[in-house]
Amino acid sequence: MQGTRLLISDLDGTLLGDDESLQRFADWVHPRRTDVRLAYNTGRFYASVCDLVASTPLPPPDAVIGGVGTDVRLFPDGERVDGWPRCLGPWGRPEIRSILAQYRELEPQPDEFQAEFKLSYYAPDLECGFLVELRRRLAASGHVVEVVYSSNRDLDILPAGVDKGSAAAFLASRFGLQPGQVFVAGDTGNDASMFRHGFRGIVVGNAHAELRSLYSPDVYKSDRAYAEGVLDGMQYWLQRRPGATY
Ligand code: GLC
Repeated sequence: MQGTRLLISDLDGTLLGDDESLQRFADWVHPRRTDVRLAYNTGRFYASVCDLVASTPLPPPDAVIGGVGTDVRLFPDGERVDGWPRCLGPWGRPEIRSILAQYRELEPQPDEFQAEFKLSYYAPDLECGFLVELRRRLAASGHVVEVVYSSNRDLDILPAGVDKGSAAAFLASRFGLQPGQVFVAGDTGNDASMFRHGFRGIVVGNAHAELRSLYSPDVYKSDRAYAEGVLDGMQYWLQRRPGATY
C-alpha cells in the first residue's frame, strides 16, 4: 500500500447524498490514488460498505472503519486490523442495555445495527439535558462509555475510548502517518470526534449544526454539499493551504 496522505471520510450525508457529485469526487481521486489513501469511517458495517462500493461510484478504499469506530478492516479482503478496539473484555453491554430500557425516549435500533461493541437507539429530538442525565446515570452505575448523538435521531453507546476519532487515529498510526498528513470529512455528530486529533478537517456544506459549530484553523467548512464538499476541502488543503498539510 502506498500514499503519503490519507483521506478518512464519513459516508452517509458526506460522500453519499448526490450521485453526480460522488462521480466527480471519484474522477478526482482515481488518478491520485498512489498518493492519497482512502478510508471510510461510518456507522455502517463492513458488508454494507462493500455493497455500496459494488453498486455506486464510491471508489474502493484501502480500509473501512465500521460501526461508529468499533471495527477497523482492510479493504477488499475484510481482514480486521489487529489491536482494535482497545477494549479489554466485557464493557457492561447487557447491564447498560437494561438501564437504557427504562427510558421511553429510546427505541432500540433493529438487531442488524447492533454489535458486540455498539448499542444503538433511535431517539429523535433529544434535549442536551437528557444526554447529560443519561451520561450521569451510566457513570453512577459504574459504566464509563461514549454516548454519541447524531442527526437529531441516532444514539450510539460505545466502550470508553472507542469512537470514529480514536479509530481514525489508530488507523493513521498503523499506516505510519502523522496527523498533518491525514484529512477527515464529515457532516454530523458521530463525526465530531474525528476533528479532535489534529487532522485536517473538512465539514461539508450540508452538515448539521453539531459540526457547523466547530471552529478551528484545522477545520475547513465547505459551502458545497456532499462529495463535492469533500473534493472542495481536499483542494483547499492540498492547493490553497499546502504548507498546512505536513
Ligand atoms: C448508522 C448506523 C446506526 C448509527 C448511525 C449513527 O446509520 O447504522 O446504527 O446509530 O449510523 O452513528
